[in-house]
Amino acid sequence: MSLLTTYSEKPKARHAFEIDYLEPMFWEKMSGRAPTDGQKLLKQSLLGNLKPHKEPISILDATAGFLRDSLLFCSWGCQVFACEKVASVVGISARALERAKAENVDFARMANRLLLIHGDSIEWMKDLRSCVDIVYLDPMFLETKGSSVINKDMPMLRKLIGNQDQKEELLLMMALGFAKKRVLVKRPIQARPLAEHVRVTNSYWGKNVRYDLYIPNAK
Ligand SMILES: C[S@@+](CC[C@H](N)C(=O)[O-])C[C@H]1O[C@@H](n2cnc3c(N)ncnc32)[C@H](O)[C@@H]1O
Repeated sequence: MSLLTTYSEKPKARHAFEIDYLEPMFWEKMSGRAPTDGQKLLKQSLLGNLKPHKEPISILDATAGFLRDSLLFCSWGCQVFACEKVASVVGISARALERAKAENVDFARMANRLLLIHGDSIEWMKDLRSCVDIVYLDPMFLETKGSSVINKDMPMLRKLIGNQDQKEELLLMMALGFAKKRVLVKRPIQARPLAEHVRVTNSYWGKNVRYDLYIPNAK
């Protein structure tokens, strides 16, 4: 199996849905000039007191979706491996990356810290030795009234991924064996932790979401 499967598609394929990473609202978020409370919470939960040493902090975004979170991590100076298993989702993200890189040199510089991988991150983590500081998991939430407000891409993502079993518990177990320092899981605010039998080290509460932090090997 090839671990770094590059995405390829027919040159004449037509696409009804596209995303634009340079749209002002998103691009402004990545500039870091006026971080929202939600961004501050995510940054604090994800990085804690970790500081880059000689190398940038490395993150595996094991549920990459449309890369909104991955790109935010890049904007914080992290090196990001973004793994997504649904080919059509990878295609949309890859095209959006290409367009934004060609149009904006600052975006290109930032996005060069991101490697987009088409594949199942469970398989990826099985096949490689631990190589990242942090694993981030954002499995699809069950549909709730507020979901589409949290992220406007969500209805399309839901449509593209269908009813696939996200094997959330297995993802978490693999992540705990793979991350050197931290595993962060995004959850709906009222949801149970991803796995009943694994102790959450700390939870960070936002208005609509909660981040559960796991420190691998913590007793
Ligand atoms: C809620 S979305 C993530 C949204 C993402 N954080 C963003 O900012 O756009 C969850 C994504 O994880 C993907 N996914 C779920 N299990 C996966 C796995 N084992 N390997 C790779 N991708 C996975 C789904 O296909 C879906 O696109």
